[in-house]
Amino acid sequence: MQITLESKPFAGIETEALVSCVFEDSDPVQGRIAEIDKLAGGLLGKLARSGELTGKTLEFTLVHAPAGLKAARLLLVGAGKKEQFNSATLRKIAGAALRYLKARSVKNLALLVREGYATEEYAQVIAEGTLAADFESDKYKTDKKNDKRIESVAIAGYSDSERATGEKGLAKGRIIADSQNFARDLINEPSNKMTPTILAQKAETMAKASGLSVEILDEKRIAELKMGALLSVAQGSVEPPRMMIITYNPPTAKPGAPVIGLIGKAVTFDTGGISIKPADGMEKMKYDMAGGATMIGVMRALAALKPAVKVICVVPSTENMPGGRAQKPGDIQTAMSGKTIEVLNTDAEGRLILADGVHYAKQLGATHLIDAATLTGAVVVALAGINVGVFGSDQAFTDKLLASAKVAGEKMWQLPMDDDYREFIKGTVADIQNISSGKGGGATIGAMFIKEFTGDSPWIHLDIAGTAWNDDAKPWLAKGPTGVALRTLVHLIMSY
Ligand code: BES
Ligand code: ZN
Ligand code: ZN
Repeated sequence: MQITLESKPFAGIETEALVSCVFEDSDPVQGRIAEIDKLAGGLLGKLARSGELTGKTLEFTLVHAPAGLKAARLLLVGAGKKEQFNSATLRKIAGAALRYLKARSVKNLALLVREGYATEEYAQVIAEGTLAADFESDKYKTDKKNDKRIESVAIAGYSDSERATGEKGLAKGRIIADSQNFARDLINEPSNKMTPTILAQKAETMAKASGLSVEILDEKRIAELKMGALLSVAQGSVEPPRMMIITYNPPTAKPGAPVIGLIGKAVTFDTGGISIKPADGMEKMKYDMAGGATMIGVMRALAALKPAVKVICVVPSTENMPGGRAQKPGDIQTAMSGKTIEVLNTDAEGRLILADGVHYAKQLGATHLIDAATLTGAVVVALAGINVGVFGSDQAFTDKLLASAKVAGEKMWQLPMDDDYREFIKGTVADIQNISSGKGGGATIGAMFIKEFTGDSPWIHLDIAGTAWNDDAKPWLAKGPTGVALRTLVHLIMSY
């Protein structure tokens, strides 16, 4: 999909559909909408008075052959009350408009920003929203719906003097959305086409193409480094594990400045191991590598956006299978850090591989840690598929991330984590155990386990089990992988 900036006056834009936002108001026909109304001989005023055009969020009003415009259609999208409108709303609206028109076989459209909104940020979110909305999970369909493809999007409403800033936002938005879609592509692959070996190859190819340093540890190196927690999960599978390390080290990074460590869970399929999962819905466990894929996607974006901070990305990857050599409940494993772990449930495997991932990231020099993982079913119970579960050991660092999430339009909610929860994972025969000895608080317990390996470093854990996969399509996003957290992390790192 092509996306360009168009600085022609909107009435003269030849497009299949001109799209604009309408704010909810007793009179929604104002500003640019009033200008269009005038050209169209009062049609929009009529629609408003009849109650068909109100500006309520995501209300669509489609007008064919609008008088006074070169466009074949005019699509007005409700944007809610103007006081509440922000770039996060526009990102969704732009995406929803694209999907609405795509379903109607429209191939090109022009999005007209409202008066006063021709900024860098708004061009960026239009690019992000439309490119993410265009993603479809049809790679393996032999009958691709080729009549339903968006070929081009134009961003309109930028005057000649606003063009440079618009272009800047557009370029940024494209990098971020392409990286999000890159992660979504990885997540979408089934486990027979996305083993730890294949994921590592894809990460390596991306890193080399982007000018990032990359190292892939194979099962031999993983064993030499005594990553016992990762190995314990991998031992039940014939597919060997991999540990990926991608580093972004710009010359602009100041000595002594924070080094961000991004650690992503990449279980390419989670059967549960010997503590096997029920058959119903197990196919979805191909997305148990979403945390790792997201971190790889973040690195792809950073390579192009070039923040002045060093970032080390560590992605432990394995299958969790109940093979003849699989670990069994009660087994005791020694993590890379030296801590011993009683594995009471082999399905709590994400925290095991993250234990070694986090420890290794610290060893490589990361001072501030962030992990992303489809870690618990409990976070889905707590927050459904709406919010990412956030846990943090340093409130200032966590607040910074939550602020970035707001700007990025990704809903995140902090959940509690404090030492009162620690007694639930105290081991009886080893240092710690991988599941709780008590009841409830499953998402916090998962976080507490990872915390054991973070030492004193400021650390944030993102539980994306509920949000990394959309079971149903949203107006602005196809069903399937979401790439959630990528935009927030990119924004956070860019702020250093
Ligand atoms: N990968 C799952 C968590 C998950 C659940 C991801 C639903 C996506 C959707 C994780 O490895 C797991 O199985 N966690 C267990 C932990 C339990 C045994 C303490 C869970 O949440 O049931
Ligand atoms: Zn599991
Ligand atoms: Zn898992």
